[in-house]
Amino acid sequence: RYHGKGVQKAVNNVNNILSGALRGFDITNQSKVDQCMLELDGTENKSVLGANAILGVSLACAHAAAKTSNQFLFQYLSDKNTITLPMPMMNILNGGSHADNSVDIQEFMIVPLGAKTFSEALRMGTEIFHNLKKVLQSKNLTTSVGDEGGFAPDLNSNTEAIEIILNAIEKTNLKPGEDIGIALDVAASELYKNDLYNLYSENKQLESEEMVDYLGELIKKYPIISIEDGLHEDDWSGWKYFTEKHGNQIQIVGDDLTVTNIHRLNKAIEQKSMNAILIKLNQIGTVTETIQAVSTARNAGFGVIISHRSGETEDTTIADLSVAMGMGQIKTGSLSRTDRVCKYNQLLRIEDFLGSKSKFSDKTIFPLNK
Ligand code: PGA
Ligand code: ZN
Repeated sequence: RYHGKGVQKAVNNVNNILSGALRGFDITNQSKVDQCMLELDGTENKSVLGANAILGVSLACAHAAAKTSNQFLFQYLSDKNTITLPMPMMNILNGGSHADNSVDIQEFMIVPLGAKTFSEALRMGTEIFHNLKKVLQSKNLTTSVGDEGGFAPDLNSNTEAIEIILNAIEKTNLKPGEDIGIALDVAASELYKNDLYNLYSENKQLESEEMVDYLGELIKKYPIISIEDGLHEDDWSGWKYFTEKHGNQIQIVGDDLTVTNIHRLNKAIEQKSMNAILIKLNQIGTVTETIQAVSTARNAGFGVIISHRSGETEDTTIADLSVAMGMGQIKTGSLSRTDRVCKYNQLLRIEDFLGSKSKFSDKTIFPLNK
């Protein structure tokens, strides 16, 4: 069924096991609900009941509790002091395994550093996205989109992708580096074959240190403020070296390195492998553990970015959670495809609801000493 991706097993586990085990629980006691499911499953990676089943119930409790108390989910989950709208990282050009094009780097994102409010940030991003379409059309490049709704043209190099985006930023009368920063998700684990980083579009095979040099050149040449998964998920020495060299210039984000796993996060903190973490609810599997991972990262002084997945639904929980915990940043794709845009729309609703009380994360969240 569904090429092995059907969810009947997860649904059965919810209906036959979890609903019985949790009957009579107070849904406002999220940590007790989540703890009960973890104990029932009993495995490190939730393999008995399945993370899909467990996360589904965990989220359902949070949503039901918010509804019962007549609140937005973000209000219900927040401690009032933390409520802040996140800076969006908008993935407007897709490559790597998210697109069928020749570009190696998976995500090219724009970050509206100059925006004063979330809605202004969203407007800037949208205008750039549509100008990018015009730039691509003028070069006879395809304007079809990849998995996360960014354009997916065939280009001759990764730097060409950055140049084209800079072009679209300038066409929008915005200043790269001042109004708009560039963020990359290299997803380098996908490029790692035979102990080398393979940049196919540029015909380069690089050792770990050479890969750091390659990224260092990009940082020097372009207004890059954040790089995610610049190195392979098990290249711990490479990560340490990269952070030593560039960790005070830009944000260095672990996604595949840490997979929202507390043990891998603790190792990354200990080894100073990165300075920010990507948080994905369905990697860790409960609301309570997500909140714990965010707190652990924060206590280490790390930046926190909540994230969608390349395969997504129209669920908007991450929008509310980002505001509730004042995470600072959200990564939820481009300005097209309803599964991406619905998160932005929810953030607009929250901003509108908060009115003059709404706060927005500004560029001081980035460790920028370029
Ligand atoms: P994924 O991509 O959902 O395919 O893991 C998102 C990312 O790498 O950040
Ligand atoms: Zn990633």
